[in-house]
Amino acid sequence: MGVELIKTDVAIVGAGGAGLRTAIAIAESNPDLKVALISKVYPMRSHTCAAEGGAAGVIKPDDSLDLHFNDTVGGGDWLSDQDVVEYFVNEAPRELMQLEHWGCPWSRTPDGSVNVRPFGGMKIKRTWFAADKSGFHILHTLFQTSLQFPSIERYDEFYSIDLLTADGRCQGVVAMEMKSGRLFQFQAKAVVLCTGGAGRMFKFSTNGAIKTGDGTAMAYRAGVPAKDMEFVQYHPTGLLSTGILLTEGCRGEGGVLRNKDGYRYLQDYGMGPETPLGQPVLKTMELGPRDRLSQAFWHEQQKGNTIPTPWGDSVQLDMTHLGEKHIDERLPLVRELSILYSGVDPVKEPVPICPVVHYMMGGIHTNIDAETPMPGLYAVGETACASLNGANRLGSNSLTELLVFGKRAAMNAIEFARSQTSSTSESALKEQADQAQAKIRELVGRSGGTESIAGIRKEMSDTLESGAGIYRTEESLKETCAALVDLRKRFAGIELHDKSNVFNTDLFQALELGNLLELAQTVAEGALARKESRGSHQRLDYEARDDENFLKHTLAYYQGDEAPRIDYHDVIITKSKPGVRDYSGGAK
Ligand code: FUM
Repeated sequence: MGVELIKTDVAIVGAGGAGLRTAIAIAESNPDLKVALISKVYPMRSHTCAAEGGAAGVIKPDDSLDLHFNDTVGGGDWLSDQDVVEYFVNEAPRELMQLEHWGCPWSRTPDGSVNVRPFGGMKIKRTWFAADKSGFHILHTLFQTSLQFPSIERYDEFYSIDLLTADGRCQGVVAMEMKSGRLFQFQAKAVVLCTGGAGRMFKFSTNGAIKTGDGTAMAYRAGVPAKDMEFVQYHPTGLLSTGILLTEGCRGEGGVLRNKDGYRYLQDYGMGPETPLGQPVLKTMELGPRDRLSQAFWHEQQKGNTIPTPWGDSVQLDMTHLGEKHIDERLPLVRELSILYSGVDPVKEPVPICPVVHYMMGGIHTNIDAETPMPGLYAVGETACASLNGANRLGSNSLTELLVFGKRAAMNAIEFARSQTSSTSESALKEQADQAQAKIRELVGRSGGTESIAGIRKEMSDTLESGAGIYRTEESLKETCAALVDLRKRFAGIELHDKSNVFNTDLFQALELGNLLELAQTVAEGALARKESRGSHQRLDYEARDDENFLKHTLAYYQGDEAPRIDYHDVIITKSKPGVRDYSGGAK
């Protein structure tokens, strides 16, 4: 059977928070435009669901847009584009209020107004939350809202393989219906990629198994640069052995980190003393930014101050002083997860935790309009790099980001789609779709392969962790870069065991691994080329930030079987000149 054709106005790939927000914004304002919402999982299984702690936006009188701007820019170690940050902080409250109107059950203060909690690197309380199930409620709210729009046609459990491009613009995507193996060419006037991050290239990650960088890799292969990929965020509090997230809300609610001696070690790493509770401006130890907390763990480990366990070294997240009532009200999921997966009840004992890969600051190169350099192609959320988060994202900015830029992408995609007539390049698009089909047939039909998907995947994640983890060196990165070149060659020797068309998970895992390997190279090569330390990118051999040479975004360009070509792009600075990141304590 050949590749079947579906024509639409806007194709959105990914139906998590970013995809749904984009789809709703198009359908609400332009109901005559057809939207194809294509996702490899049912929308409510998207990773947005796993977000716990909340979404940032200025709402309280003691907060201000300037404070949110400064926290975000400083938290990102001045690698954020400041026009993007300014737009974001302005739009954030509107988007969170919009969710409220669509039914999101934000937690409340006793007087009934929206409650906010402190979050790392935010020097004031501004994170809206729904207990510790914020992502679940946001996703649910968006999903149920989307159901009222007939112009949104969903293609659940369709795996997207490659973009379709012709006449210098993006004109669609080829995707496989997973239950049947049928291939479809979605021809579209505009395409929005909302496929999430690629944290699954690392071995220990909070990310759902679906976060394999599919959209980022599709755009990268189509010639769009991947930006700032070397900036990989470790979240300081992952549950041992599984990597399940224990939300920063634990620390926002007052949880503290202790080393093997019960000592609150963060005060030794420039994040103390603690601001007394009740002060309007928070600069407390555990509320330092994620990069600094994860780096502090690494130093404690070097000093022998961590606790060895069968699952690796840990420190303790102590919430015992918060009390059962408070934990059950604000952190019920954390309690459930700790008991289920670690056998530890946080009401009674500290929970063993360690840093875990959580978020890619990098992604598809986009601007303030969510546009990529390829006309007709947009990207939103973790798959994109709008340069909001710079070198280190602040917790709770990402849920808001996908709302703010989902709407913005929608508005621009609408305008672009309206300016296009039907494709004049049908034969070129068909040829590309046929090539995608040939690629799949070759992969499924291959025999005599000597490599396993699981084996290559393990080696990829091992080399990333050892060479491009919390701290990096020239030597470790060179080893990782070389290993990845080799792994990509060996990837050509994998053989699938499942040759069928029906939910061929072997095939999807192979395609995902191909995507991860390509993107892993952008992480390692970008890190090797960046000879400085900034935010989440820490080089033991270049310890200082180097604004003279590296106050710029990295752009990684696809070069087929070769490692990517690395280039750079200016950072947009409007009103905050690079300065010192200060989390050292004391009130305003
Ligand atoms: O810790 C958390 O709840 C994570 C939030 C985030 O990554 O924004």
